[in-house]
Amino acid sequence: MGKIIAIANQKGGVGKTTTAINLGAALAREKQKILLVDLDEQANATIGIGLAREHCQVTLYEVMIGKQSIKDAIYETQEPDIDIIPASNRLSTLDTDLINVENKVWLLAEKLQLIREAYDFILLDCPPSFGVIIDNALFASDSVIIPVECEYFAYDALTQMVNKINQVQTHKNPLKKKLTIEGVLLTKLDNRNIFGYKIIDQVQNLFPTKTFKTIINRSSHLQEAPMLGKSVLKTAYHSRASKEYRALALEIIQNKAR
Ligand SMILES: Nc1ncnc2c1ncn2[C@@H]1O[C@H](COP(=O)(O)OP(=O)(O)OP(=O)(O)O)[C@@H](O)[C@H]1O
Ligand SMILES: [Mg+2]
Repeated sequence: MGKIIAIANQKGGVGKTTTAINLGAALAREKQKILLVDLDEQANATIGIGLAREHCQVTLYEVMIGKQSIKDAIYETQEPDIDIIPASNRLSTLDTDLINVENKVWLLAEKLQLIREAYDFILLDCPPSFGVIIDNALFASDSVIIPVECEYFAYDALTQMVNKINQVQTHKNPLKKKLTIEGVLLTKLDNRNIFGYKIIDQVQNLFPTKTFKTIINRSSHLQEAPMLGKSVLKTAYHSRASKEYRALALEIIQNKAR
């Protein structure tokens, strides 16, 4: 049964989408069947994995408003063993479209149940904001990866995100799901800057058992790959960035086996 993992931090630009694509590719390389779900109206994951917007008639939006079935929103990608449910800018009106819908935080969870068997991991690339979309993602998930950029303002955002996860954990839960923190992922480390290491110390002190051993360093390969619509495993397999995401994938596979 597919493990559903939200990749979430309401702070922008911390590496959520980069992690969704490259962790997905690294897990797929370990013979895991992956579904990527793009929950962000910016559609960065959709485009970054090589789909053209105009190619995606059915997106997560049509699924969420009940217009299309989730199966009709699944597209194959050029990455082996990765499918995607694309996003579109129509998601920007979802909050108001669902205003009168009861139990709307459970919509995505119910829909993912229908396809969960077909995958080993379902990765949810979340938008950088709190709202109905992130609520749906957290209520649908088994665990959360919180990417944290190794820079000063990271800390506040991390605390807010953890508070949000605590709220979901204590909420009444008809599907009897238990949400855990998969791990805090330190990203975009600039190893020429001592400050990043201070953030690493702080985060590791706060989450001694929940900080991934793998740290993602800054890498131009990671910036370049989405422009080519590919993962870094495809564009620069032997790069440090590719090795880091492959190491992260092994940590996540180990967590699932526990
Ligand atoms: N390890 C890294 N090294 C260098 N650049 C990176 C790294 N990770 C991400 N980036 C770059 O930082 C920018 C933001 O990354 P990304 O889109 O993954 O973040 P995000 O959290 O999904 O952003 P948003 O909150 O807007 O959805 C992108 O330009 C991306 O290429
Ligand atoms: Mg993103």
